Amino acid sequence: MAEQKYKIGMVGLGVMGRNMVLNIADHGFSVSGYDKDQAQVRELQTEAGSRAIYAAQSLDAFVNVLSTPRVIMMLVPAGRVVDSVIQDLAPLLESGDLIIDAGNSYFKDTDLRAKSLAVKGILYMGIGVSGGEDGARYGPSLMPGGPKEAYERVKPVLEAVAAHVNGDPCVAYLGSGSAGHYVKMVHNGIEYGLMQLIAESYDLMKRGLGLSDDELSSVYKDWNKTELNAYLIEITSHIFAQVDKQTGKRLVDLILDEARQKGTGMWTSQNAMDIQSPTPVIDAAVVARNLSAIKSEREVASKIFHMQTPQLQGDRNIVLNQLKNALYAAMILTYAQGMALLQTASKVYQYELNLEDVARIWRGGCIIRAALLEEIRAAFHAHPDLHNFLTDSRLGGAVLSRQNDLRAVVEHAVKLGLPVPCLMASLAYFDGYRSAWLPASLIQAQRDDFGAHTYERIDEKGSFHTQWE
Ligand code: 6PG
Repeated sequence: MAEQKYKIGMVGLGVMGRNMVLNIADHGFSVSGYDKDQAQVRELQTEAGSRAIYAAQSLDAFVNVLSTPRVIMMLVPAGRVVDSVIQDLAPLLESGDLIIDAGNSYFKDTDLRAKSLAVKGILYMGIGVSGGEDGARYGPSLMPGGPKEAYERVKPVLEAVAAHVNGDPCVAYLGSGSAGHYVKMVHNGIEYGLMQLIAESYDLMKRGLGLSDDELSSVYKDWNKTELNAYLIEITSHIFAQVDKQTGKRLVDLILDEARQKGTGMWTSQNAMDIQSPTPVIDAAVVARNLSAIKSEREVASKIFHMQTPQLQGDRNIVLNQLKNALYAAMILTYAQGMALLQTASKVYQYELNLEDVARIWRGGCIIRAALLEEIRAAFHAHPDLHNFLTDSRLGGAVLSRQNDLRAVVEHAVKLGLPVPCLMASLAYFDGYRSAWLPASLIQAQRDDFGAHTYERIDEKGSFHTQWE
């Protein structure tokens, strides 16, 4: 058994956990690592080299080498695995020890786990980690929530391992309870929206304009040099250039068009519905993945409703410019929905989120990092209580000046019969949000007519019911 005491422990040594261990050790903090799978433990041992890493062969040994009060991070699949790790760990821990769940756990599970561990005096934090394998290794965006005193204990480690933007670490204490996991869930909801929007731009350029993979790669590369600069745009440009080693063809053209999901985008939509905060782009993105997954049905339907996609008429450069502007406007509208959801959730769940911090820590390391986040950060800096940043003149103005291109692009898609649910949803959201009057008055009348649900009037206070004729 190792004599040395280790600063922090990691349970779960899959690629994410192992990379995070190496990242922590590279920043001068000693780490003990454990995984039920001994092959993963050996892998860590091999990769550790001369770093201050202890690859533990048993959970007892893992816990015993940690300095007290202990800090143990878990990077294991969300769901039952998290509960089973906690069940195994808890009897070996003492009051004052801290467990951190750094996986994509459902925020309500995080609250329940924190409550049950608090009975034993064990502190519990939920930290959102974004950036994939490379992020975990070289600098993720970290979204911590839980007891403030627990955060203070791990702050130096988190600040050291996080991505940095202009010397500023992409981590901030977000709030109590499940605040961190909630923010990560919304991050992923926005991620779903942006990915679907980019996919729709791809469809318009591929089926609508007939662009080749090389041309697509170069369009996204050019766009990445503009206000559209974003990690997802950058990787999209690389994806179109990737050649399949087996066939020599472009890999993207050999990938089955059924999008999978682990559920975080769906949770975002479900919760947004629960707390009545509109997120139509995220909802449409989840639905688009579900529709993509019923490929066999789509294949049958494509024979019944066969339609030749005509080529998009008009000057290609003009259409590409419209598309670029439409995509940027739709991206702004997607972030706006996600941030407004966070503002609402902050009140409902008493997280006391600081949206400037959220935008700041999303500027680097995470999947939705984009130049736009600096603009969003600045808007919340100027007005911390801004509910929807579309009311900020710069960001709102950026949508306004591109709205005609967004309309034109949606029109092209409608004429060609190409599905662009997220572009449409972002436009409809914009049009709904900027409407002082909506036909919801009729819905209220209908509800009162068939169900005596009552309605409010614009000229009198109170609740009214009418015997409709
Ligand atoms: C991140 C990613 C990460 C993961 C997604 C994938 O921020 O690093 O969001 O958490 O890749 O959960 O989610 P789906 O499988 O649902 O697409």
